[in-house]
Amino acid sequence: MRIDIITVLPQLLDSPFAHSILLRAQKKGLAEIVVHNLRDYSTHKHKSVDDYPYGGGSGMVMMIEPFVNCIEKLKTERDYDEVIFMTPDGAVFNQQIANQLSNQQNLIILCGHYKGIDQRIRDNYVTREISIGDYVLSGGELPAAVLVDAIVRLLPGVLSDETSALSDSFQGDLLDAPVYTRPAEFQGMKVPDILLSGNTPEIEKWRYEQSLERTRTRRPDLLE
Ligand code: ADE
Repeated sequence: MRIDIITVLPQLLDSPFAHSILLRAQKKGLAEIVVHNLRDYSTHKHKSVDDYPYGGGSGMVMMIEPFVNCIEKLKTERDYDEVIFMTPDGAVFNQQIANQLSNQQNLIILCGHYKGIDQRIRDNYVTREISIGDYVLSGGELPAAVLVDAIVRLLPGVLSDETSALSDSFQGDLLDAPVYTRPAEFQGMKVPDILLSGNTPEIEKWRYEQSLERTRTRRPDLLE
């Protein structure tokens, strides 16, 4: 899978993909993540990428031309399945959307800033608008990193134990059961006896009950 991210702040995305699972996915050739500096696609003298809004009002609006220059260049190199715009007024991201996107080959992600991006980009180039939650961040870079992480870890071969993505909270209908590791007792705090019993069917049953209980108390909406 290839993911191209277009941003005015490429430095913000230096680190999120350079460690751990996301780094391994790239080293294994399972994911290629390329960050593009929007300013490189500006034809203005000071490499500006924003301008005052028509009709007045506060805040700057990101211009159509640099985005289109970058998107069109990428589209000459390969076909893209989706052009995604990260925005707080998009559809709220969830595991189902992550699953859908992980089945695609090539994605472009646009990061907004300031007051927003020229509506003509959204109308004519963007195929999907995604929010990572009902709060406003300073730009779309961190949301883009969240999206990419959630997608890439689902690609076959990325996680060492392939079943572990399948048993994630949200991947089924239930939240995960609690987990413990050694020592079996720490300052009087004990690991539940059942997990030390070696009785696999009983452990599975306990985990299922814990999942159900967690989901019922924390996220009853998931059971509806
Ligand atoms: N840009 C700013 N806030 C955002 C959010 N909550 N989700 C996606 N993109 C954003």
